[in-house]
Amino acid sequence: MCGIVGYVGPRSAQDVVVDGLRRLEYRGYDSAGIALVGEGDEVVVAKKAGKLANLEKVLADEPVEVAHTGIGHTRWATHGPPNDPNAHPHRGCASRVAVVHNGIIENFADLRARLEADDHVLVSETDTETVAHLLEMQVASGEDLTVAMQRVCQMLDGAFTLVAVDAEDPDRVVAARRNSPLVVGVGEGEMFLGSDVAAFIEHTREALELGQDQVVTLTREGVEVTDFAGRPAEATRYHVDWDLSAAEKDGHDWFMRKEIFEQPRAVADSLLGRRTREGLLQLDEMRLSDDEVRSIDKIIIIAAGTSFYAGLVAKYAIEHWCRVPVEVELSSEFRYRDPILDYSTLVVAISQSGETADTLQAIRHARAQRSKVLAICNTNGSTIPRESDAVIYTHAGPEIGVASTKGFLTQLVACYLLALYVAQVKGTRFGDEIAEILQQLEAMPDHIQSVLDGAEQVYDLARQHVDTKSVLFLGRHAGYPVALEGALKLKEIAYLHAEGFAAGELKHGPIALIEQDLPVLCVVPPRGRDQLHEKMLSGIQEVRARGARTICLAEAGDERIRPYADELVALPQVPVLLQPLVSVVPLQLFACELATALGHDVDQPRNLAKSVTVE
Ligand code: AGP
Repeated sequence: MCGIVGYVGPRSAQDVVVDGLRRLEYRGYDSAGIALVGEGDEVVVAKKAGKLANLEKVLADEPVEVAHTGIGHTRWATHGPPNDPNAHPHRGCASRVAVVHNGIIENFADLRARLEADDHVLVSETDTETVAHLLEMQVASGEDLTVAMQRVCQMLDGAFTLVAVDAEDPDRVVAARRNSPLVVGVGEGEMFLGSDVAAFIEHTREALELGQDQVVTLTREGVEVTDFAGRPAEATRYHVDWDLSAAEKDGHDWFMRKEIFEQPRAVADSLLGRRTREGLLQLDEMRLSDDEVRSIDKIIIIAAGTSFYAGLVAKYAIEHWCRVPVEVELSSEFRYRDPILDYSTLVVAISQSGETADTLQAIRHARAQRSKVLAICNTNGSTIPRESDAVIYTHAGPEIGVASTKGFLTQLVACYLLALYVAQVKGTRFGDEIAEILQQLEAMPDHIQSVLDGAEQVYDLARQHVDTKSVLFLGRHAGYPVALEGALKLKEIAYLHAEGFAAGELKHGPIALIEQDLPVLCVVPPRGRDQLHEKMLSGIQEVRARGARTICLAEAGDERIRPYADELVALPQVPVLLQPLVSVVPLQLFACELATALGHDVDQPRNLAKSVTVE
């Protein structure tokens, strides 16, 4: 998820674009850059790794000529570490065309190979740079930038927002989108583009929302919208009545709530580009050889907090699909228990930030014991991936809320992909079985969306509990880590005592906690594994018989649960190992709404930091 800005009009394009990037810096802050169309036959580009301030220093030290057409980008790295060459905008060989991009181009490796075979010299590791060269080839053949964009978009697979300028066509900005956000700001004699309205809301509140697979051409006089084949298309005009703060949160009250609702896109993006043209699973940052993968006879997952709970879910999937024993260990405990490691142990470090000190120290210890370390991380170029032997990056985009939500869901996706990849290499699952599970995963964004569509019911439930002093969470099998995660969310942002239990453990002590009307949220397994479902029902009966108020999350159509549920939240029917991807969402919504009702700062809860860089 990156920040994109475009402008054409009478103002200084540099000022408009840089101000717009500042409003969008929450969308990505690995690097920033602008491209301006002046008098010359080359587009002028200034870009710098790091925060926007670094770019502003470059622009102050080396002023560029005034221009009235320009584009800009703040990067959240997906392909290629955050450095100057990988910063956007990118240009073609002749520096005539510059382009910025948000999303993932799945077939960029093939496109790059074809360009390099035609003697194109690409200077970055990004997927975006291929587009700059393709656009430039088109305009060099005589097409205008609009037609060039239409033609190139037809060559691309994946999710993308593209914005481009042509040095030989200074009064035009051209953009395109597929499965990635882009809005037009409509001014008087000037036009704006942004990843969201925060980019231009200080200049205009009149906006156009672009549809799927559309190309938009902006000039001072107006806007032209087509599809990728060049046929005229419609965009939806609307008036923006948010203030700037709301605009940065896409209209939500909290970044956390915005990030909960971004989860379908985050999961979809984290699944992009994971299959070869032959349908085989590929993990492009997985730098372990097949022999090294085949030699793995134990996996130890280390993580902290929410990431630790993602590891607990991963244990069920990896052991079921790969038949490799998995231990899941708190990072802060790992090296003090004198773990048994050797070259055939794969240590998997899960970290959204990639900077958690406990996890970093743990992987250093593991590597000193000759184990291979694989990082699952959402922050390209951060310390933990840099110090690992292999990496699987998630593509959730920046997670601003301290309480992790989309970070957790995309970690689950990466863990499932790792499990399937090991199963593919070890041969513990046939290709058709792996393909079937991948299809089930690719259907999950829609399932997650269906849970989000039912948010109001969960909000009502949450508000009923503003006077609650304690909440319990029950789960079984892969639902047990979900119960733990649901409890953590409530602790973190509602400051409530909350505890998650394995439902089968209740009778060994915790059931003594049950009191009249105590809320117990129960994650009911799908009926795919009936011994689980039946046993979960008896656990729910036990707590309800002792006065608990049971709020049950169960798959739609599960009639057996009704007699024991005081409240029932329907979940979509999904495979048992993938259910955490949908069952955690109501718990996230519940915590977010209850904390809001209690008047807490949901994005920056007391005593907490987004990344804990001290042990
Ligand atoms: C989760 O909501 C918390 N913010 C916290 O437990 C977090 O998961 C933990 O600190 C680990 O962070 P990491 O994933 O960046 O390593």
